Amino acid sequence: MKINRHYLDLEKSYLFTDINHKVAAYQASHPGQSIIRLGIGDVTLPLCPAVVSALEKASAEMGVKETFRGYGPEQGYDFLREAIARYYEKKGVTLQMDEIFVSDGAKSDVGNILDLFDKDNTVLVPDPVYPVYVDTNVMAGRKVVYANATAENGFLPMPDDSVDADIIYICSPNNPTGAVYTHDQLKAWVDYAKKKDAVILFDAAYECFVADSSLPRSIYEVEGAKEVAIEFCSFSKTAGFTGTRCGYTVVPKALVREGAELNGFWLRRQTTKFNGVPYIVQRGAEAVFTEEGQAQTRANIDYYRQNAKVLADTLDSLGIRYTGGKNSPYIWMECPNGMKSWDFFDLLLEKAGVVGTPGAGFGKNGEGFFRLTAFNDHENTAEAAERLKKLLGELLNR
Ligand code: MLT
Repeated sequence: MKINRHYLDLEKSYLFTDINHKVAAYQASHPGQSIIRLGIGDVTLPLCPAVVSALEKASAEMGVKETFRGYGPEQGYDFLREAIARYYEKKGVTLQMDEIFVSDGAKSDVGNILDLFDKDNTVLVPDPVYPVYVDTNVMAGRKVVYANATAENGFLPMPDDSVDADIIYICSPNNPTGAVYTHDQLKAWVDYAKKKDAVILFDAAYECFVADSSLPRSIYEVEGAKEVAIEFCSFSKTAGFTGTRCGYTVVPKALVREGAELNGFWLRRQTTKFNGVPYIVQRGAEAVFTEEGQAQTRANIDYYRQNAKVLADTLDSLGIRYTGGKNSPYIWMECPNGMKSWDFFDLLLEKAGVVGTPGAGFGKNGEGFFRLTAFNDHENTAEAAERLKKLLGELLNR
């Protein structure tokens, strides 16, 4: 018996687990201290009424013999996939129903999709990066190379023809930096992928935060992208499904490698290893796309956008540089006085009772940066902004 030794190459624990442990230890030694969490990107607003009533109705159906459902289609019920296709239609993207696969979230699919690819492929990820892209490939023993995302390139690295890559991860709006690729920039990545015969894994989990209508919300808005890209999206940040779990993945039929349609591979993978998302949850997700659901979820997204503005205004008033916060729920700020990101994490926790995410947790280029999320409520965010202002003001004037 041999274990998968690649697990030994991973960091000891997942970034957000580390942070939770640190905060729990701090709370245990400082009972009663108020802590405001702007760390993990978890939502705080409840599910919207349209979703709740769809969940209730579907739950009731499950309690009646005539409307009870057992195993559903592994790739998702037609009613939800049709609603997703209509949503894409509004972005000018036409999808066939069988190109859409409903899942329990983007994180799972971003990891699971790797079943489709050989271990010898080289993987290109930006640095800083959402750790899941790296860890899932390290688990499989794949070689990972990095594209530097720095203040100089606006945290939006562009393709470099001298680098060979087979699998390319792009997240836009980006986690953690909040930076968003333009249409032309995404086109450059699509062209590069074509040149290298590579596949782009495009994480669109934060697309609903794009307020600037000139910015793309799907890679398929770029012509020819269906030949090179798989897209992942989620209801987590759009509609507060972090605890309800539902997302979707688009694998276009036009994506063919070595004569094989990857769509067929993914269908085969899902039908073998996955039994689908609960009917009740899919009915809740369907309600997100109704007129009522769209208005209610938009109001929630606007609520978080206001939080982002409060944080951004605070940093502006202090003259601290940052990206994100406008078309993204994340604000990626420079640590004050050249501090290291974990040192700033500790200081912010101890002196202000505010939790953020140290940039170094997302890669070497994240050192010296810090991520704040806009997902807390208005009161806590305003209080956190005040505390930040006080602490940073003191540090900068020292
Ligand atoms: C984050 O904080 O980066 C996100 O919550 C991660 C995720 O969506 O899995």
